[in-house]
Amino acid sequence: MAEFKEAPAGASMGEKLTVWTENRFPTAFAEYKKHLSEYYAPKNFNFWYFFGSLALLVLVIQIVTGIFLVMHYKPDAAKAFESVEYIMRDVPWGWLVRYMHSTGASAFFVVVYLHMFRGMIYGSYKKPRELVWIFGCAIFLCLMAEAFMGYLLPWGQMSYWGAQVIINLFAAIPFIGPDLSLLIRGDYVVGDATLNRFFSFHVIAVPLVLIGLVVAHLLALHDVGSNNPDGVEIKAKKDPKTGIPLDGIPFHPYYTVHDIVGVSVFLLLFSAVVFLAPEMGGYFLEYNNFIPADPLKTPAHIAPVWYFTPYYSMLRAVTDDMVNVFVGLTLVAGVLAFLKGGFTGIWKFAPLVAALVVAALLKTFDAKFYGVVVMGVAVLILFFLPWLDRSPVRSIRYRPSWNVWLYGLFVIVFFVLGYLGIQPPSPGKTLMAQIGTLFYFGFFLLMPWWSRMGEFKAVPDRVTFHAH
Ligand code: HEM
Repeated sequence: MAEFKEAPAGASMGEKLTVWTENRFPTAFAEYKKHLSEYYAPKNFNFWYFFGSLALLVLVIQIVTGIFLVMHYKPDAAKAFESVEYIMRDVPWGWLVRYMHSTGASAFFVVVYLHMFRGMIYGSYKKPRELVWIFGCAIFLCLMAEAFMGYLLPWGQMSYWGAQVIINLFAAIPFIGPDLSLLIRGDYVVGDATLNRFFSFHVIAVPLVLIGLVVAHLLALHDVGSNNPDGVEIKAKKDPKTGIPLDGIPFHPYYTVHDIVGVSVFLLLFSAVVFLAPEMGGYFLEYNNFIPADPLKTPAHIAPVWYFTPYYSMLRAVTDDMVNVFVGLTLVAGVLAFLKGGFTGIWKFAPLVAALVVAALLKTFDAKFYGVVVMGVAVLILFFLPWLDRSPVRSIRYRPSWNVWLYGLFVIVFFVLGYLGIQPPSPGKTLMAQIGTLFYFGFFLLMPWWSRMGEFKAVPDRVTFHAH
């Protein structure tokens, strides 16, 4: 057992209590030091670094409001819709709790999309932070599952038909699809069994995994240390006496106080939505979801909530013509790899054979199946970002200037895809979504090539920081 500490003579009651607790629970104190008061974060964090702590805040808001919602909600197809109405009208402050939870879902995605984009522009996924990023991507997948299952619970028209459409997509997977969709639904149509399993996953299974992943995300981050807007490794320059990074400042109190600014602005905007526009023009809560689910009446237009629509757009973009484009691109890639790939011996023809096999597979199954594949791969590809990006520097600040335009275009395309995913399809819109999908995949798949191109600027030894 570690030596017992003594409180100094004349210590206050508070100090004595602290020493008393530390003697009995030293781990808590050691962890506080390791992760807060002696965790040295780069001193040049900017606006983009607010979103990690904001994601934590939203996670807490969702869990707390979720606990109160569960007290009154009924996971029963015959009662779910009216139990939500009961929460809204009769439970004291129920409307506030519910609107905080529904707004929190959208806020989560706003914050996490910005947080991920920060990782992209500052190359935060690059060595040695690959696992931090991978845990982040797993969190993103969990969040999507969590939001999708949560949306079924109010049992409105959009809950019902949205789930119906998405679960039916799984049926397009060859061989296992029909059984898989049956397993997810628990019935031949979305029904009480679906509601019960989604409820169980939404309130306990997925949140547990989510919390576990967030802990892993932060522990992995604290093991390697934070990146920063300059992409400079602060651990490379330490004070020889103390071993503390010269550009590092203790997370607490510096960043705990700094984050209060972000939290205040966030809560202001969050409250504005909760109190003034909780439906957010139908984007956060769709109007059709104020109508109870009716399995006999399909709404004229079914669209997922805004945070899924970029991916939904990619799904819808995969028509038979688009599959032909994929076949063409696969064959071109095969021929290029054959001519320029440097394969020798018996491997010389491997790229051509592989391309032909992939092209044949593409023509074998339904376009709908490839739509599902494209939607899934659009998310899964993010996991590989640390290896796709071959740029010699991390931060966009020191990459060739045109990179800014490229990342800007990426954001615009993502928004356009999001917009198109909300709209009913038309030939023109489908074509735009197809171009957007090709750009999205081109951005990532060609990254090993373009990320090395152009003139890189000299990365400074120390971070750049101008006191304000
Ligand atoms: C519930 C969701 C999430 C929470 C609570 C969360 C929390 C945090 C926190 C508190 C930090 C440190 C502060 C900061 O750098 O902003 C951080 C860093 C980071 N997160 Fe997340 N995160 C979440 C989701 C994600 C996702 C979805 C990704 C990427 C796919 C991601 C990637 C990263 C990376 C790369 C860093 C290191 C950034 C750097 O050092 O520059 N996170 N996260």
